[in-house]
Amino acid sequence: MIEYENLGRANASFMNEYRTAFDKVLESGWFILGEEVKSFESEFAAYCGTSECVGVANGLDALFLSLKAFGFKHGSEVLVPSNTYIATILAIVNAGLVPVPIEPDIHTYTIDPSKIEDRITSRTVAVMIVHLYGKMCDMDPIASICRSRGLKLIEDCAQAHGAAYRERRAGTFGEINAFSFYPTKNLGCLGDGGAVTTNDPELAARVRSLGNYGSRVRYQNEVPGINSRLDEVQAAFLRVKLRRLDEINAHKRSLAAVYRSGIGEGYIVPVVQEGFFDIHHVFNIRHPQRDRIKMYLLERGIKTDIHYPVSPNRQPAMKGIFDAPCPISEEIHATTLSLPISFCHTEEDIGVVCEALRDFSHRKGME
Ligand SMILES: Cc1ncc(COP(=O)(O)O)c(C=O)c1O
Repeated sequence: MIEYENLGRANASFMNEYRTAFDKVLESGWFILGEEVKSFESEFAAYCGTSECVGVANGLDALFLSLKAFGFKHGSEVLVPSNTYIATILAIVNAGLVPVPIEPDIHTYTIDPSKIEDRITSRTVAVMIVHLYGKMCDMDPIASICRSRGLKLIEDCAQAHGAAYRERRAGTFGEINAFSFYPTKNLGCLGDGGAVTTNDPELAARVRSLGNYGSRVRYQNEVPGINSRLDEVQAAFLRVKLRRLDEINAHKRSLAAVYRSGIGEGYIVPVVQEGFFDIHHVFNIRHPQRDRIKMYLLERGIKTDIHYPVSPNRQPAMKGIFDAPCPISEEIHATTLSLPISFCHTEEDIGVVCEALRDFSHRKGME
């Protein structure tokens, strides 16, 4: 059996260091906003290349608090890719703002910059982009539109820890940027966690305050905030993993290379573009017979996943909120299949998946 993911095995080589890190927190007796969170924040800011990082409870809160930090007027519009995990859109809705869908580029699966300008209105305040699957959006045209139209840029980097565009890492392009450390992410902790990165100390201070009951000084609440803090124990685990994030990304890139050379004919594989450093949080293929391939692989003992089976605009929760037809997004959701590509997999595992996919193509050719 080749699993899609096995978090026990993916974390096995970190276990001794996790135990030491946990013991240190336990013995310190300090469990909320202590030295581990502080150290992780400065280490992750340095890794990304920003001056500031603020830990929060999860990726959804990182997006939500990023939006709240700007103090946008209720009902303002935020442009967002139509194909993303629903959290990106929920953060906008939960912040009292209106999500406006922008269709993706069918080849890269990320927001199509040529479609942004047409959707800007007098109510548009920001563009929230998503580096889906660990591939950066095309940042030059996006940043240029935001600059010339006076819009705030926010990156959803939940799937892009360490991904880069022209040598510049995810989390450094927007005024403020959001990360998730959900366990399956390339930089995942052992529970929930999230962070924002920015070069603006005032925005960072606002997120810190909003995530701590709207308080900058203890027991003085300047704005109505929430409780969203990165846990001290998770920060300790994240510090261990961050030291090997480049190794994790390199491993996934090497598995992606095996797929590219061995997958055979008939599958649409992720595009490779000059100047883009993809970290393959997900390695997806596309095929009109996606569901048949998924079953075929399962019969051969190979588990896959789908990111995501339902386009956000077709989710019941989005009815009346974000339900305009998005044909490109819907086409991607109907045909995409995520293949195993975890830190727990070996190149031999990927070779087995490739062989099964080649067999499927061969059989199909004979039908
Ligand atoms: C693109 C994207 N944005 C936001 C999130 C939300 O992160 P979290 O689950 O930590 O709240 C995720 C997590 O799956 C994601 O994939």
